[in-house]
Amino acid sequence: MSAPRKLFIKTYGCQMNVYDSERMAEALGASGYVTTERAEDADMILLNTCHIREKASEKVFSELGRLKPLKAANPDLKIGVAGCVAQAEGAEILRRAPVVDLVVGPQTYHRLPAMEAEIRKGKRALDTDFPAEDKFDHLPRTRPKRGPTAFLTVQEGCDKFCAFCVVPYTRGAEVSRPADRLLGEARDLVERGVREITLLGQNVNAYHGAGPDGDWSLARLVRELARIDGLERIRYTTSHPNDMSDDLIAAHGEEAKLMPYLHLPVQSGSDRILKAMNRKHTADSYLRLIERLRRARPDLLLSGDFIVGFPVETEADFQATMALVRAVNYGQAYSFKYSARPGTPAAERPQLPTEVLDDRLQRLQALLSDQQRAAQEAMVGREVGVLFEKPGRMPGQMVGKSDHLHAVHVTAPDQAAGDIRRVRITASAANSLAGELV
Ligand code: SAH
Ligand code: SF4
Ligand code: F3S
Repeated sequence: MSAPRKLFIKTYGCQMNVYDSERMAEALGASGYVTTERAEDADMILLNTCHIREKASEKVFSELGRLKPLKAANPDLKIGVAGCVAQAEGAEILRRAPVVDLVVGPQTYHRLPAMEAEIRKGKRALDTDFPAEDKFDHLPRTRPKRGPTAFLTVQEGCDKFCAFCVVPYTRGAEVSRPADRLLGEARDLVERGVREITLLGQNVNAYHGAGPDGDWSLARLVRELARIDGLERIRYTTSHPNDMSDDLIAAHGEEAKLMPYLHLPVQSGSDRILKAMNRKHTADSYLRLIERLRRARPDLLLSGDFIVGFPVETEADFQATMALVRAVNYGQAYSFKYSARPGTPAAERPQLPTEVLDDRLQRLQALLSDQQRAAQEAMVGREVGVLFEKPGRMPGQMVGKSDHLHAVHVTAPDQAAGDIRRVRITASAANSLAGELV
């Protein structure tokens, strides 16, 4: 038997791409591929790409340029582009980048084994359909052995059409996976050592998958997952404020396994901008939602996403965003300069000067990092649960995540990955905490 071929996947973008990369590796595993950490050793390199901002897409073409010498050194090397740039640019990638053998969109990667066979015959392959069949029905059912945390995609696509966003075009219409499949995949993960599952979807809280007794909401799915023995922690991301149902808010107070951390993007604090963004909520409705969530779960740590410099954003609009951030007090948050995306409505509007975007981003990020620092420092002296993921850099040290998703370094010589222990936080550093076993 010949040696297995080696596959190297580089992943860009969101957590859904991380999940998709794992599934692509599993699909190609059936064609005899094993993964490698070194691009130089690979017989196939896949770039799993992101189209969300201009910089994200540009990276793909510069990376393809860097791969040219590898292909020159090994003519059998095959190069593929997957993910959201593949979906958005499709045939254009094959035209622009002769090194590329294969282009596959996020909804067709279950067809990778057949495409791989084609390109081994010297052809080039392109598949960016939105097929009628469900790719998950055509992927391997059981997942390989793994560490204590895992992603599980429960919902894909988006029907919201925020004026700045490419996701509805690259990922297609919103689809929820059937509940029994998800419970099955979750049980399988737990049997393989997983203790924490993060449910994923571009609009995860819009989940409405078929259950045995009618459609299940995300709240129902979380409650049923919480009954799986051995599954200790549940998280979900990313949510839209308008899909935060009463039941899901209540679940935050009632389900001990649902962790006290929520990523709830608002994008802007100005109602005028929110309207122009087609967000269909106001700053005030968001703040009231946060209040209700905190009433259900007082120690909930909030995270968010912000865009500065959306076309027509004035200094007063920006100040409204700063005021909203002060009112919420985030534990952590992401902020981005608006980036015009081809095909989206906002890209048609006159853009603000780069200096304005740079200046606003800097001021917002300064405020957000102050809040992050304060939230971390507030943990010092407190006892938290930590799920150990791997040994730390120092001997006898383990690194894991707290309930609130802080990275924690713990002096814990006899602990293994997958253990959950009570830890007293002793110090806060730039992007992590330190602690000791209680
Ligand atoms: N589905 C999620 C996340 C979408 S993408 C949601 O609805 O919140 C992640 C983040 O990227 C968005 O929340 C937004 O803040 C940012 N983003 C999306 N399009 C962008 C654009 N054109 N320019 C800058 N940031 C953008
Ligand atoms: Fe994009 Fe808006 Fe959909 Fe989020 S809700 S994926 S920002 S269109
Ligand atoms: Fe990027 Fe596609 Fe995710 S555009 S953020 S990889 S859904």
